[in-house]
Amino acid sequence: MQVSISHAIGNNQDVHAPQEQAAKVVVEPLTYVDIESVVDVHMEAYHDRPSGMVGRKYARQFLLWFSHQPDAVAIVAKHGDKVLGYGVGAPVGYQRRLNRNLFWTVFWSVLFRPKVWINPIVISNIWSRFLVLLGVSPKESRPPDLPLPLMSYVGAAVSSEARGMGVGFALYKSFEDETRKLGTVKSIRGTVHRDNAAPAKILSKLGWTPWRENKLGYISWFKSL
Ligand SMILES: CC(C)(COP(=O)(O)OP(=O)(O)OC[C@H]1O[C@@H](n2cnc3c(N)ncnc32)[C@H](O)[C@@H]1OP(=O)(O)O)[C@@H](O)C(=O)NCCC(=O)NCCS
Repeated sequence: MQVSISHAIGNNQDVHAPQEQAAKVVVEPLTYVDIESVVDVHMEAYHDRPSGMVGRKYARQFLLWFSHQPDAVAIVAKHGDKVLGYGVGAPVGYQRRLNRNLFWTVFWSVLFRPKVWINPIVISNIWSRFLVLLGVSPKESRPPDLPLPLMSYVGAAVSSEARGMGVGFALYKSFEDETRKLGTVKSIRGTVHRDNAAPAKILSKLGWTPWRENKLGYISWFKSL
């Protein structure tokens, strides 16, 4: 299947040139209506990572949280009624609000899943969330000349059946456009594992710059808007 991709948000400008008999994929704001399908995409993509390992309930609340924040961006790519992917993000500093709002969901989700207790990413994640709740901000590593405030692109995924057709690119591009429209931040950050080639390729194409790699192999990427 080939896709042509438009922004329903904004001015219907095509991201990719329309192709003959192409299916129409639209990027629009994430709402409650699509949440279960978005959670399906999330659980498939992140089944082996902390945000998937702690279960559907957490994933649902985590993703909806972004759609409820006035300073955040939550978008979904759809073909007709079918959800193909999503992207969510919020300005750096969002973690404290998120952790406070989702504290009990995280607590119960982790308590009943002993398998996640020994995962190094989960342990590091929970530790930094705990510190954030106590008011201790994690050490930020970013280019010194980066204009602030900074938006964090927290998560994105495309269902396995729709990958490799430009849906991911459209979601990242739309995320940038929506962030610009908010008018409240001056740059964007995203974190990609060094072995995850697809998002790195998309970010390069969109003009993002890789910065530093942390001890778990995640590289921070930045772009000034
Ligand atoms: C990252 C992701 C959203 C990309 O979605 P997508 O719809 O496949 O993206 P696109 O079709 O726009 O493809 C992006 C580029 O990556 C390339 N690509 C896709 N899979 C790849 C792979 N496994 N290795 C190398 N390149 C790959 C594509 O060929 C394309 O490059 P091109 O435009 O030069 O051909 C999707 O792979 C995904 O959901 N992954 C799991 C969750 C995840 O890792 N999210 C990002 C966290 S930072």
